[in-house]
Amino acid sequence: MLDLATNKVHDENRQGEAYAPFELDPNSYKKRFYIESYGCAMNFADSEVVASILNKEGFGATRNVEEADLIFLNTCSIREKAELTVRKRLTEFKKLKRARPGTLVGVLGCMAERLKSKFLEEEKLVDIVVGPDAYRTLPGLVEEAETGQKAINVLLSREETYADISPVRLNSNGISAFVSIMRGCNNMCSFCVVPFTRGRERSREAASIINECKDLFEQGYREVTLLGQNVDSYYYTSANGNEQSTAVTFAMLLESIAQISPLLRIRFSTSHPKDITDEVLHTMAKYDNICKYIHLPVQSGSTRILQMMNRTYTREWYMAKVDRIKQIMPDCSISADIITGFCTEDEQDHQDTISIMKYAQYDYSYMFFYSERPGTLAQRRYADDVPEEVKKRRLAEVIETQNRLSLESNKRDIGKVFQVLIESESKKSDQQWMGRSSQYKVFVFPKGNYDLAPGSYVNVRATDCTQGTLFGEIVD
Ligand code: SAH
Ligand code: SF4
Ligand code: F3S
Repeated sequence: MLDLATNKVHDENRQGEAYAPFELDPNSYKKRFYIESYGCAMNFADSEVVASILNKEGFGATRNVEEADLIFLNTCSIREKAELTVRKRLTEFKKLKRARPGTLVGVLGCMAERLKSKFLEEEKLVDIVVGPDAYRTLPGLVEEAETGQKAINVLLSREETYADISPVRLNSNGISAFVSIMRGCNNMCSFCVVPFTRGRERSREAASIINECKDLFEQGYREVTLLGQNVDSYYYTSANGNEQSTAVTFAMLLESIAQISPLLRIRFSTSHPKDITDEVLHTMAKYDNICKYIHLPVQSGSTRILQMMNRTYTREWYMAKVDRIKQIMPDCSISADIITGFCTEDEQDHQDTISIMKYAQYDYSYMFFYSERPGTLAQRRYADDVPEEVKKRRLAEVIETQNRLSLESNKRDIGKVFQVLIESESKKSDQQWMGRSSQYKVFVFPKGNYDLAPGSYVNVRATDCTQGTLFGEIVD
């Protein structure tokens, strides 16, 4: 399932998807590539950039790994488990390489950046290693690897945003698309590997973002999700000849995209609680097509732990931010990321997390137990001292709390009418549509005798629910 928050794409349904753009005539392929993506939405968006770069060189994609000349894994380093999955997958490719000599295997993305040439040394299975800022050099690296050299480029850049590359929309439903607006991260959350794998923060030229959104709308897309590790710090300046330099903030960017068409919905992810401004909240409130949903990772409810995590806000500051969101947009849903068992976390810290979840009444959360990552501030400074079974028990309690909150949130919606954007037929019945409300909640409802299709907007009254889905009926 394609999901908004950066980490939800760890979802089993999304993980390891193979992509096949359809534009190329199969007979004109120079080579066939297969690409599997792991990690956050940004990594999936990057795979679409990679496919575009390879397409231009005459490489065609295949969904069938067994007929691929080039096999790429776009990898994630966020937790140890993500890396273990990739290593397992690489050993599976060993057989394929044996059966088809000449097949090249490339590791892209965050794990390539983290491990660099170690990959080529340790893993006899890997021929090409490319970091997230070096995808333009991929065709040259493939050529090098074909001559038997080990090909690697893991240079990080302060400028690269791939602004001019039109991503090939892979496996898209034709309704929703990801649009990268910035790359990298300048925050130094002590648990997090991303600043090391993605480099310094940089914002993509505003005009190229707006044009991409316009093109998508004209092609029939009805929803764009603006992506960045920290979208609220988006800031683009350009000096234009003798003219004064212009600066575009995230709120200004949102407004420009909202004005493309009232029929184009806008979502974004991720917001750092310290950076989301009133200006952004007021812009969201002003436009119906900017979705009333904010992913606002809290990580922990304990000020002491938040300080050790280097999140730069306190429990009270975060709670005030939640109040402000609800004050400006009473119908706005909020989700969070939560880590249990961070270094030194005790039962009181854990209870603080549970209580902040209840305070914020999260509609959804993405929940993890702490996984120490090599090279991070936390790994260098603090002992990973919470036993694994304690981390897991606390995670189970956090998940149970969230399940209750999600169900309560859905129950509060029963009887109300929501504008739903239809995405597809429901999985269970071709007589039902599946779509989402502005609040990102999933709705399933009978088609009835209406002339509707994916991409249509329809008003639906919620009549029943589970923790994950609202059921309803179309209202005229
Ligand atoms: N840029 C986003 C999220 C990036 S990673 C943000 O700042 O919110 C997505 C989530 O993975 C994080 O919010 C965090 O909850 C989780 N995460 C990151 N590093 C982790 C680690 N070492 N162990 C467990 N979870 C981690
Ligand atoms: Fe990681 Fe923090 Fe940057 Fe998010 S804001 S990517 S958690 S360092
Ligand atoms: Fe994303 Fe994983 Fe990299 S979450 S930024 S792919 S470490």
